[in-house]
Amino acid sequence: MVDSVRKKFELAGQNHLFKYVDDLDSRLQQQFSSQLETIDDPCKLVNTTKEALAFSSTNGATRNLTQLPTDCCASTLDASVDQKKSWEEKGLQAIADNQVGVLLMAGGQGSRLGSSDPKGCFNVGLPSGKSLFNIQADKILRLQQIAASRFPGSKPVLRWYIMTSGATREATEEYFTKNSFFGLEKSQVTFFDQGTLPCFNLDGTKILQNSKSSICESPDGNGGLYKALAKNGILDDFVSKGIKHIHMYCVDNVLVKVADPVFLGFSIQRQFDLATKVVRKRDACESVGLIVLDKDINKPCVIEYSEISKELANKTEPNDPSKLFLRAANIVNHYYSVDLLQRMVPQWVDSPKHLPFHIAKKKIPCLNENGEFVKPDTPNGIKLEQFIFDVFPSVELSKFGCLEVERSEEFSPLKNADGAANDTPTTCRNHYLQLGTKWVKANGGIVEDGLVEVNGTTSYGGEGLKFVNGKSFAAGDIV
Ligand code: UD1
Repeated sequence: MVDSVRKKFELAGQNHLFKYVDDLDSRLQQQFSSQLETIDDPCKLVNTTKEALAFSSTNGATRNLTQLPTDCCASTLDASVDQKKSWEEKGLQAIADNQVGVLLMAGGQGSRLGSSDPKGCFNVGLPSGKSLFNIQADKILRLQQIAASRFPGSKPVLRWYIMTSGATREATEEYFTKNSFFGLEKSQVTFFDQGTLPCFNLDGTKILQNSKSSICESPDGNGGLYKALAKNGILDDFVSKGIKHIHMYCVDNVLVKVADPVFLGFSIQRQFDLATKVVRKRDACESVGLIVLDKDINKPCVIEYSEISKELANKTEPNDPSKLFLRAANIVNHYYSVDLLQRMVPQWVDSPKHLPFHIAKKKIPCLNENGEFVKPDTPNGIKLEQFIFDVFPSVELSKFGCLEVERSEEFSPLKNADGAANDTPTTCRNHYLQLGTKWVKANGGIVEDGLVEVNGTTSYGGEGLKFVNGKSFAAGDIV
């Protein structure tokens, strides 16, 4: 065991970690040292954890939250056709100029779906059998074609950066390789790993041990993205490839418009540093975060579903009780200028003010006081997570944009196993097929009965379907 490492942890009150260290052979001691060395400042970690625990009992209710001011918002639901065309044109131009990078957060497993596979490999039961990753790759391929034909002479390559975690990295890479990268160039896809954070006991004072020579760790949450971008050289890669605009999204939305040119154009034209897409919250109970304004600091922020008070969640518009007052649901589709990331990531990753820890009480298998490995029946510890949106308040309100989009065209997340009321493989499949069927019918196709699937490579958002005019389709057909 390296003495300096041991000293740092003892100073942070973690002497218990070394109870068995003398029983370990030198290889295991070295391995243990190496794992501990990945934590630069154990004292800071312990203090930040204690602060997070104290904060978690007061959070939400104390914040002074309201709607974002209208001048940073727009909606594709009521924008003019010309306005939407102009945003789209701007976005396609950036894609044609190879200034757009696509960033996918795919660190989560399908555990709530009863699967240990990466969530992106999940097949929601479409007639084509395509997985979430495949659907997203199709959209990228189609968008490259659209941009190339709109700007003749250009050779658009949308670079896809995929953040994985220890639990999903290998399986994700294997899955892409097995499927020949779904027709994309292998060189346009980059995988990189998010980090981990140690797990603590319930009062946040002691790091839990997984064995006599290792501590318990869990992925650092989707807010680990920023550290991972810096640590893995991804930010530098954006710059060296001339990428200026990033569309970031999460893996589980079957309707996601990857690198949506309308959203990109909206953000670029209005020179936002950071922007986000929202849909109208389904009802007061929906498990979504809300994009809001923190009145005390006059900055944008997100209040997570687990943190909002019942009263605030249920509050309605004073002059229209049919609408929730806070209804701008976060669908984890964010735009970042690379310029902002370059300026701010170094500050964000180093500061608990920007990226505080959120606490989740969990049953964490670990060593007990007698050094025996146990699997608890009740929560015995806490996992720490950072949230991607916690950096929003560090952006000036005038540089923050919010675009409302039509839910039935853009948001159907996969969160629960079939049997639940919402956000299941069945609801995802139905929403995907309903949208495709709507496009086919709008183009004169005849679908007498049931629903058809429109491949992402055929159409990105309803375009390119004139050929269906007058043709008949049966339920389950793939267009
Ligand atoms: C998330 C949002 C919530 C939003 C909802 C919409 C956060 C913190 N919360 O909630 O505001 O309304 O989606 O669907 O963003 N992930 C990682 N690494 C991790 C943890 C998660 O890459 O360590 C990825 C997942 O693969 C997924 C995304 O982050 O792509 C969202 O994570 P998830 O835990 O499913 O968030 P929700 O609780 O659904």
